[in-house]
Amino acid sequence: MPAFRYYRLMAFDELREDYNGNALRKEECASDPKEQFQRWFDQALQQKVEMANAMTLATVDAEGAPQVRIVLLKELDSHGFVFYTNYDSAKGKELQANKRVSLLFYWYAMHRQIRIEGVVSKVDGRTSDEYFATRPRESNIAAIASAQSEVLASREELLSQIAAVKERVGNAELIRPKTGVAIEWCLMRLSFGKDNPIVPMTALSIK
Ligand SMILES: Cc1cc2nc3c(=O)[nH]c(=O)nc-3n(C[C@H](O)[C@H](O)[C@H](O)COP(=O)(O)O)c2cc1C
Repeated sequence: MPAFRYYRLMAFDELREDYNGNALRKEECASDPKEQFQRWFDQALQQKVEMANAMTLATVDAEGAPQVRIVLLKELDSHGFVFYTNYDSAKGKELQANKRVSLLFYWYAMHRQIRIEGVVSKVDGRTSDEYFATRPRESNIAAIASAQSEVLASREELLSQIAAVKERVGNAELIRPKTGVAIEWCLMRLSFGKDNPIVPMTALSIK
C-alpha cells in the first residue's frame, strides 16, 4: 500500500475563497430565529442549493463521545425540525439515552451555516405512518430489510436480505417497521453564521 500523503496547509491554499462583501449584519436578521431560519431556507431553495435539507446531526454516545452523521429534514413545523430514522440504529439508541443534540445546515453555495441546539422527542405513530406512505416502495422494503448501523459482511448480504423481504411481502401493503420512527425537535437555540473574515462565524447567536 502506498504511504499516506499528508496534506499540509499549502495544499489547501488554492481552495481559499474571497468572502468579502458577504458579511452578516445583525440588523438584517429577524428577531425570531425561526423566521430567520425560514428566510435563509427559502433562499437556499430558491437558489436551488443542492440537498438544502441535508443536515449534520450530532449526538453523544454512552462514553460521552460526540457522533455525527447526515440526515434529511422532512418537515419543519411549530414543533421543530423533523427527520426520520431507525430507533435501533446507533443514533436511535444514543437519542433515547441522551436527548440533547446539535444540528448543522451548511449551504456551501451561499457560504452559510446554521447551527441548532435542541432536545428530541418522538413524533406520533400516525405522522410516521403518513411519512412511510409517501416513500417509494423500494425504499420502504430496504428500510424493513436493513438493520441500520449494523456491520454487514458484504453488499450481497444486504441485497439478499432485501430480496427475501420482497419475496415475503409480494404485492401486499407494507407495514412500517416498529423501529421506523420520527424524531421531533424542541427548539433551544439557533445560531446563524456566514464564514467570512469580517464577521466571525460565531459572532451572532440568536436565542
Ligand atoms: C445524503 C444522506 C442522507 C441521509 N439521510 C438519512 C436520514 O434521513 N435518516 C437516517 O436515519 N439516515 C440517513 N442517512 C444515513 C446516515 O447518515 C447514517 O449513515 C445512518 O443513519 C447510520 O447512522 P448511525 O450509525 O449513526 O445511527 C443519510 C445519509 C446520507 C449520505
